[in-house]
Amino acid sequence: MQQSTPRALNEVLRSRGEAAGLIGVILAVARAGSGIAATLRRARLEPGAPVVGALERRNVQGEQQQQLDVIADELLLSALEACPAARAYASEEREQAVALRDDGDYLLLADPLDGSSNIDVAAPVGTIFSVLPAPAPAALLQPGRRQRAAGYVLYGSSLLLVLATGAGVDLYVYDFERDDYLLAESQLAVPARHKLYSLNEAYHNDFEAGIARYLDFAHGAGYSARYVGSMVADVHRTLLKGGVFLYPATRRAPQGKLRLLYEANPMAFVMEQAGGAASTGPGGPILDVTPHALHQRTPVILGSTAEVEQVLTHLG
Ligand code: AHG
Ligand code: MN
Ligand code: MN
Repeated sequence: MQQSTPRALNEVLRSRGEAAGLIGVILAVARAGSGIAATLRRARLEPGAPVVGALERRNVQGEQQQQLDVIADELLLSALEACPAARAYASEEREQAVALRDDGDYLLLADPLDGSSNIDVAAPVGTIFSVLPAPAPAALLQPGRRQRAAGYVLYGSSLLLVLATGAGVDLYVYDFERDDYLLAESQLAVPARHKLYSLNEAYHNDFEAGIARYLDFAHGAGYSARYVGSMVADVHRTLLKGGVFLYPATRRAPQGKLRLLYEANPMAFVMEQAGGAASTGPGGPILDVTPHALHQRTPVILGSTAEVEQVLTHLG
């Protein structure tokens, strides 16, 4: 794994006056991201290196782990182990958080590889991360509003880092030759409206009536649909082009599928920082939810403010 410092990224964060510890944590994620990207790129080149395909074991949530889920999780952990500001690491792939340094100021929570069922078909996947302050060792269950930074690395046709530290959203592009992340765009703003929805419509009969009503409305109102099946790709498109991404509750999954701490909170933080909205539905803004469990799930409705509101008007 590459251990060099992404200098340009470091410079931008320093020039913004970010705390040294927070910069350290973000750089660790960025390093892990380029390491994960390198592993993904070689995945089909080395038949002896078993990195594509499912593992026999399942994660704490009973989901089948892909080999790369575990590799990505380990790359993140080892990057954080070298980071003095990291107090603990919690991950979708681990039942318990890993304690790192007692005097670390930050907690990192992550979905190390999002969209992992798309790996086998070389479709975009990503790493989603959330940084919380660490006033105490067991402070992982804080509302998303308290995030100090959040974002994702998107392993798509470009390797991108989208980062929000509380003053807007920046888009960095990884330069493979320089082994660095270059700032490509600042102050990303999600378009206020766009007639586009993104959800797994195959669950239509399992959604609550309000979502079905919204879909009826959208079908009659000239909407388009897009769904990659990797949250990170679907949310990234929503951020740049507008529209609404939904993963509502279903009959089988009454809290939806997505995890509050590893997926919903960081994406909600990015979306709000870009001027958009992120809601659980009747439960209100995602960022205001006080978590009660590390692996808790939540319904997700996020994207352009007007499009999220449009969905909400059809609910309950
Ligand atoms: P993960 O690969 O981290 O388990 O996440 C998969 C998630 C998310 O990326 C995507 O939005 C969703 O699963 C898709 O689920 P469905 O197949 O039910 O649509
Ligand atoms: Mn995920
Ligand atoms: Mn995952």
